[in-house]
Amino acid sequence: MTRQTMLIRDSFEQVRLAPQAIVMLFYGRLFDLDPSLRQLFKIDMKLQSKKLADTLGAVVDAAEKLDALIPTLRQLGRAHATYGVLPEHYDTVRQALLWALGQALQEDFDTETRAAWDGVLRFCSREMIAGTVG
Ligand code: HEM
Repeated sequence: MTRQTMLIRDSFEQVRLAPQAIVMLFYGRLFDLDPSLRQLFKIDMKLQSKKLADTLGAVVDAAEKLDALIPTLRQLGRAHATYGVLPEHYDTVRQALLWALGQALQEDFDTETRAAWDGVLRFCSREMIAGTVG
């Protein structure tokens, strides 16, 4: 297992214990950063929090073999474009998620762990955006 995968797995264990809290932190931050994003989210917070936890879980499970996720990510990116998601929104979402993880994990979310999450989220965003062009 690579060190990046290990850091992501270990930190995600703590997220699994309290997904609701991290979701509230995430959306709070996201809508502070860009209030216009609020209108994109139509389902309720409870379902949204389950989706987010499931999504993060899937990313964590795939962290070691991200290349295998590329077709899924491109497809997911196309679906997102139909929800009204724009390429520039991915940075905002990544920032909000890193912030929420930092709040939830405190000192366990150290520089190296943050860099590992940042790398995985950038990878996913890049492939999702790539799915919407060409
Ligand atoms: C790393 C990047 C992202 C990943 C892995 C991701 C993943 C997902 C997944 C798995 C779903 C549920 C499946 C579906 O309904 O198609 C979803 C739904 C959604 N995502 Fe994302 N997403 C990402 C970035 C974004 C961004 C940048 C936005 C824009 C603010 C966004 C907004 C939404 C919305 C609005 C929904 C539908 C929720 C609803 O039904 O109300 N996502 N996302």
